[in-house]
Amino acid sequence: MFESLETAPPDPIIGLNEAFKNDTNPNKINLSVGVYQDAEGTTPVLATVAEAEQCVIESQTTKAYLGIDGSPQFGVAVRQLLFGPGHEVIESGRAVTAQTPGGTGALRVAGDFIRRVRPDATLWHSDPTWPNHPKVFAAAGITLKTYPYFDLATNGLALDEMLATLRQIPAGDVVLLHGCCHNPTGIDPDPQQWKQIGDVLAERKLLALVDFAYQGFADGLREDTAGLLELTRPDCELLVCSSFSKNFSIYKERVGALTVVAGSASAAAAVLSHVKICIRTNYSSPPAHGALIVTAILNDDDLRSRWESEVIRMRDRINGVRRRFVELLSARGVDTDFSFIGRQRGMFSFSGLTREQVQTLRERYSIYIVASGRINVAGITEANIDRLCDAIAEVLAGEKVEVRGAK
Ligand code: LMR
Repeated sequence: MFESLETAPPDPIIGLNEAFKNDTNPNKINLSVGVYQDAEGTTPVLATVAEAEQCVIESQTTKAYLGIDGSPQFGVAVRQLLFGPGHEVIESGRAVTAQTPGGTGALRVAGDFIRRVRPDATLWHSDPTWPNHPKVFAAAGITLKTYPYFDLATNGLALDEMLATLRQIPAGDVVLLHGCCHNPTGIDPDPQQWKQIGDVLAERKLLALVDFAYQGFADGLREDTAGLLELTRPDCELLVCSSFSKNFSIYKERVGALTVVAGSASAAAAVLSHVKICIRTNYSSPPAHGALIVTAILNDDDLRSRWESEVIRMRDRINGVRRRFVELLSARGVDTDFSFIGRQRGMFSFSGLTREQVQTLRERYSIYIVASGRINVAGITEANIDRLCDAIAEVLAGEKVEVRGAK
């Protein structure tokens, strides 16, 4: 059966991570997968996560299944983190949440749900977007199209082009937006631009699907909900896919959530019944452990305030690295003005490096960057930043100068 099977291509992000692990160069640098690293280059277990995990283990009495949609307490905590306590969509009961295995799990459940209830809807995603977005939704059987997002000339948002395309989308289609820290560009709409986007979605009766994987990594946990709150209008319907991998540094525990806002509490109950069928026919019910930790932190004032400080520390480190990266590149006299890297938000920098330059960095220096030129800034440390900047400067200059650790 499998003799004639051709090998499938590796994942453009996780596949690079695997290639990095197999690279024997002691000076290799991994700037591929979006995983936070501290100044020493390790991905820490947050102190609050370790503490809450201990409580979870000590207080557990059973390993019986969770419900299909997961823990109700987790759902409450997620909705409050998204919309703020007392928000109309919470009080009215028109928002429902299903706990999912990570943000990717939430996206796939959202895709299955859309396919089930709106089989003819096309999903529009930004060009560019996270390379797994089109794959997840195509696997769910959804037709995909793109809208313009990034203006190469200004390294900014192509707002006019984006709005012009959104204005032509047929009513009932789905528009995928990144809640903050757009992946891969690091370029987000400002509040005024979010309002313009929200106005077009409302006028055109388009369904927003917000991928919210980096809450807290742009300006702050609350500040980063500005776009989502702009889209959450009276009578609106929308879907939000949350990931807690990054803001709780809890990647391998796979904690995520799909929240759906419907027009009324009764419509929300019907929505949840369909979401539960999508889950039951896929993985039946979510894993409990990571979500118990997240719930314990969000529901305890002391743990929560210490966790918020840990998120600030991760964000501040990334922003500090951005500034230093720009300074050191400029100190090497590269012709390109990289100051835009300091204006991008979140973990990633859309560096403008070409596919060929990315390939050279990998082949010659064992520096692993996603083919689009996306750099995981959180992977840059004091120990590797000089070698990285030397290598980029050399590749940009297109000439061979001696670089520490070159193969
Ligand atoms: C990334 O873009 O690197 C992260 O979202 C991790 C992943 O699963 O690709």
